[in-house]
Amino acid sequence: MTTTPKHALDEVLDEQNTGKTKGVLYVGIDLGTSRTSVAASNGVRETVWSYVGYPKDVVARKLLKKDKLFGKEAVEKRLSLDLYRPFEKGFIKYADTDTEHPPEELDKHMRAAKDLVRHALQLCRPRKDELLYGVIGAPAQASVKNKALIIEAAREVLDAVMICSEPFAVAYGLDRLEDTLVVDIGAGTVDLCRMHGTMPAEEDQITLTTAGDWLDQQLFALLKKKAPNADFTIHRVKEIKEKYAFVTDAAEPVRVELLVNGKPTVFDVTEEIRTACRMIVPPIVKAIHKLVSTFDPDFQHKLRNNVILAGGGSQIIGLGRVLEETMQKMLGSGEVIQVEEPKYAGCNGALKMAHDMPEEYWKRLA
Ligand SMILES: Nc1ncnc2c1ncn2[C@@H]1O[C@H](COP(=O)(O)OP(=O)(O)OP(=O)(O)O)[C@@H](O)[C@H]1O
Ligand SMILES: [Mg+2]
Repeated sequence: MTTTPKHALDEVLDEQNTGKTKGVLYVGIDLGTSRTSVAASNGVRETVWSYVGYPKDVVARKLLKKDKLFGKEAVEKRLSLDLYRPFEKGFIKYADTDTEHPPEELDKHMRAAKDLVRHALQLCRPRKDELLYGVIGAPAQASVKNKALIIEAAREVLDAVMICSEPFAVAYGLDRLEDTLVVDIGAGTVDLCRMHGTMPAEEDQITLTTAGDWLDQQLFALLKKKAPNADFTIHRVKEIKEKYAFVTDAAEPVRVELLVNGKPTVFDVTEEIRTACRMIVPPIVKAIHKLVSTFDPDFQHKLRNNVILAGGGSQIIGLGRVLEETMQKMLGSGEVIQVEEPKYAGCNGALKMAHDMPEEYWKRLA
């Protein structure tokens, strides 16, 4: 006779038998540097930019008529707000290596992280009588301390939590648990993870910081060089990148308007965009090489030809092809496929895991 593992839901049913009546809403949560996405077992899927803003003063509060703003709205009203991006490099996710920021800064980011997690879970529309069980994706190489901080951010809103690595969540959601290499190109990190039919270990994962935010900075510098008299912010550069990013040899010319002395002026930035976007390729191929070459030799071939691209950065036009060509040069061969839903691949996988995980994998929160 086989015994099925005791599931979180069973426990709640037990509770029901003792008179308490609480159902469980399972939620997969991807706390991204740039976007927080949630998928819940009631069918809700939502995504919000990972920004939280608080009115700077009493005038700002009167104007905005609320004391917290989230996502795109917060970015749009940023002149009236103290704006936080709580999962940005240097804060919650990297608290260990952060020497730049004083502890008060971490506290403020922690508060913003808690508010953002609460907001994202509210978007899932849980009923008052439901328990919330959430699986949260964390960067592949998040430390014990980083994970503890992520749990801390969720403590006030979740009843039980599990942390899993972001690229593992992607693989789990796609049912690609064997001989697959996931490359999740986010804003703060590129997370790589090789799958071999079990839970991935430390040596199966690599985290790079040459991701979307880094790419924005590279493009910013190239645009400054091209148009030294133009005024633009990193927000505008990100916008341009998201609209036009490509790495192919052939391309339509990209012309954008930038302000010079307050006057909109058109610049051809085709070359700058191509050059910046191509910069993310070598570190990724180097990391793929490392994960492939240290894999069981009998399965290296399969791994190399089973690379899955996920994350917002995977939408750079032609990236899959250029990665394949570079892998062919460095590794002899390589095949890359792109996930269909780069926005939701992580939280979909986390939700699936939430459904599948037996009770002992969950951490109950008080
Ligand atoms: N069409 C596009 N072309 C290129 N980059 C894009 C495009 N759309 C979004 N991005 C970039 O993808 C990144 C966001 O991806 P994603 O939402 O997967 O990241 P995240 O999960 O928030 O970050 P992380 O996983 O590092 O915490 C940003 O850098 C964004 O600018
Ligand atoms: Mg991500």
